[in-house]
Amino acid sequence: MILKEKDKLLVGKFLKRIPAFGNLSDKRVDQIINDFTIRTFRAGETVFYQTDMSTDMYIILEGRVKVTLLSEEGDEFVLTDLNQGDFFGELSLIDGNPRSASVIAEEDSTFAVLERNRFLDAIKEDPDIAIDLLKSLVQRLRTATEREESLAFLAVHQRLVKLFTKLIKDEGKKQKNNFYLLKKRTHKEIAERIGASRESVSKVIKKLVSGNLIIEGGDVFLLSPDLFEDIEEPTD
Ligand code: CMP
Repeated sequence: MILKEKDKLLVGKFLKRIPAFGNLSDKRVDQIINDFTIRTFRAGETVFYQTDMSTDMYIILEGRVKVTLLSEEGDEFVLTDLNQGDFFGELSLIDGNPRSASVIAEEDSTFAVLERNRFLDAIKEDPDIAIDLLKSLVQRLRTATEREESLAFLAVHQRLVKLFTKLIKDEGKKQKNNFYLLKKRTHKEIAERIGASRESVSKVIKKLVSGNLIIEGGDVFLLSPDLFEDIEEPTD
């Protein structure tokens, strides 16, 4: 499929931001762009399931996805949320094995998709792509290790504060009274991201609300700086 001019511009813009492609010359990027196809998914649709045998790599041009593990009982553990400019699917692309996790669109999303063989050709042509991709993989591994450390050693309260710290860095706004404003998440969504039960998250939040450390508004959380006393306070 030949990409439309508008899609080419969009793919080129994001390719430049991905470490694995960021160091390529403009000419090379222009050539690689032609290897991509565009796919769109509606909010809530599954891009692929864990254990699927597909091997394409995806770059998020628009939208947001969650990378998630689903149990047979329907429980969910969200490994990460990915946004515009992020990529996923590189593990099966590299080793040809089944998908390590499921990916679900959280908003209506558009992806640039690269087939495994095209990617392998690109690496043969530019071995720097492989080195840069390794750096991204190492970063993901470090983040995963940090998360395992949290799961192994931190109580639900501390894991919750860590999650809030990350969300504030990504999207939080500091208010005049020094409280941080965040888009509200359901207790279930929080539980799925910190590996806790919904009940234990609700219990901890209830306690923090009664201590005035969290204010739960209609669609926002207001978080007191005192919540981060034992953890480095987020910088904004
Ligand atoms: P793949 O295994 O092909 O399909 C699922 C994708 O989810 C995987 O490639 C990675 O892109 C991504 N993924 C899996 N585990 C993690 C993780 N712990 N952190 C970030 N991304 C992940």
